[in-house]
Amino acid sequence: MYDGGKIITGLIIFLALVTFPLWYTAASGDASYTPDPETPAQGNCIESKEYMNAWHMDMLDDWRDAVVRDANRVYVATDGKEHEMSLTMTCMNCHDDKEKFCDRCHTYLGVTPYCWDCHVVPNQQGRR
Ligand code: HEC
Ligand code: HEC
Ligand code: HEC
Repeated sequence: MYDGGKIITGLIIFLALVTFPLWYTAASGDASYTPDPETPAQGNCIESKEYMNAWHMDMLDDWRDAVVRDANRVYVATDGKEHEMSLTMTCMNCHDDKEKFCDRCHTYLGVTPYCWDCHVVPNQQGRR
């Protein structure tokens, strides 16, 4: 069965993703401000940088569904490594400065994920 709303949202996200490399690199030309997210100097992300760039929002969605609906907290990455599916404990453990990482892109893009209404940002206070 078709769900018009979902298809349109999907199309918009798809277009944003497909064109992202274009304006992401175009902007690093002579624009006065570029996102320039600060990534950890060492180590690797859960999946490749390209994959994360394009799919991190879907990955987070999948993680949430797995944890909340299926009580499954273990993500097995393409390289076989296991990761706890947790926004605060996993992503933010490496990307521990939200302002210099997540926010640099999102502010630039004008996206404000509402996740932080509930999920605690490390270094702010307490845990999740
Ligand atoms: C083990 C540490 C680690 C974990 C856990 C981790 N990351 Fe990463 N992440 C990195 C590193 C290191 C890079 C830079 C990789 C590179 O430059 O090849 C990166 C890159 C990225 C990028 C691309 C940034 C860019 O400049 O293009 C995104 C987006 C991202 N991570 C989001 C996430 C999200 C969301 C999670 C949780 C689902 C997560 N990361 C978990 C270490 C981590
Ligand atoms: C390299 C740039 C970049 C970095 C770094 C980055 N994001 Fe994103 N993020 C994006 C893009 C592009 C989108 C898609 C925006 C859209 O669909 O309009 C997005 C969207 C999202 C969304 C979905 C938002 C929504 O309202 O649909 C979530 C959730 C998200 N990012 C979480 C994170 C988290 C958590 C981090 C830090 C660990 C992070 N992102 C770091 C570029 C980035
Ligand atoms: C209304 C509050 C609320 C909001 C807003 C919210 N979450 Fe959650 N989230 C929860 C709760 C509660 C859990 C279950 C915690 C658990 O069982 O560990 C959860 C679990 C998760 C998990 C798996 C467990 C973990 O520790 O991370 C992920 C991943 C996740 N959410 C991602 C997101 C993302 C991405 C957003 C924003 C697009 C978001 N959440 C917005 C309340 C929220």
